Amino acid sequence: MRHFLHIADYSPRELKAMLDLADKLKKERARGGNRPLLKGRVLGMVFQKPSLRTRVSFDMAMRHLGGDALYLSPAEIGLGQRESVADVARVLSGYVDAIMARTFSHQHILDLAQWASVPVINGLSDYNHPCQALADALTIQERKGRLKGLRVAYVGDGFNVANSLLHICAKLGAHFSIASPAGYELTPRVVALGGEFAAASGSAIRLTHDPREAVQDADVVYTDTWTSMGQEQEAEIRRQAFAGFQVNDDLLGLARPDAIVLHCLPAHRGEEITDAVMDGPHSAVFQQAENRMHAQKAILVHLLAEKPKTAPARKPAARAGKKPARRR
Ligand code: CP
Ligand code: NVA
Repeated sequence: MRHFLHIADYSPRELKAMLDLADKLKKERARGGNRPLLKGRVLGMVFQKPSLRTRVSFDMAMRHLGGDALYLSPAEIGLGQRESVADVARVLSGYVDAIMARTFSHQHILDLAQWASVPVINGLSDYNHPCQALADALTIQERKGRLKGLRVAYVGDGFNVANSLLHICAKLGAHFSIASPAGYELTPRVVALGGEFAAASGSAIRLTHDPREAVQDADVVYTDTWTSMGQEQEAEIRRQAFAGFQVNDDLLGLARPDAIVLHCLPAHRGEEITDAVMDGPHSAVFQQAENRMHAQKAILVHLLAEKPKTAPARKPAARAGKKPARRR
């Protein structure tokens, strides 16, 4: 049984296979057909934080695939407070076919995976956001035709979204540069892991405190909120620390003329990104948001769909001259 907890756990081949499947399922749906690959299956969705995209895209993904999803709000579950994470994992495993969880502490995701007897999907923690990264890669592939050799620039907080983005870029051969203010960089461990993946794929990682350096000649410019969920009390300090890290027309002017702009959303317009960029010709943010659903279908099918059984070898006919039974 596999979980989907970190991009780091998946090989480039597996990630490419999931991107191909997402692309295929998206095209099939556009032609008017959903395949009931997960008929009768139910996804339990545990949320400790608010969500628009993750909640609705997983719910719709399950419906399109012939299954269903159950939303479990922060107040209902009280993960780790009303009941231990291990107990929640074991109880839910008796009811649902897979668990998707959005938690504060990444340890809660790891504990769920340890104790559940069904696949667990990480719907964002304080460490990473792998579902987002798969949708980001799908969007880049759709817009640019490839990831390998592209320059992806991330401007802002070296936090959960940047972590998974670095790892998927490094796995799939895209060069990654990140500009964060001092004190808000990706952790050395995340960067070191990314360095191993980049060495294997032949891509480069650049770390800087200068957004202009990061964005120079970029094919993709990415940003995220300066204040993530759970950090609201730091909002003012962060606003000061991140001044100068806004993705605006001036900064975007340093990227390639055909660069695309991505944002995981929700956006804080006027802070990390301007209205002009969000709504401008380079923006791919709403395609990216829709792609959460298509990418997650591929994750769900990868984890849950029955693998086709290999046909048993046919026995040779017992006597010479006897016709083998006709195949039905
Ligand atoms: N990008 C993302 O995960 O959005 P939500 O917080 O709305 O789920
Ligand atoms: N970094 C943001 C991402 C939201 C999808 C947060 O954790 O709030």
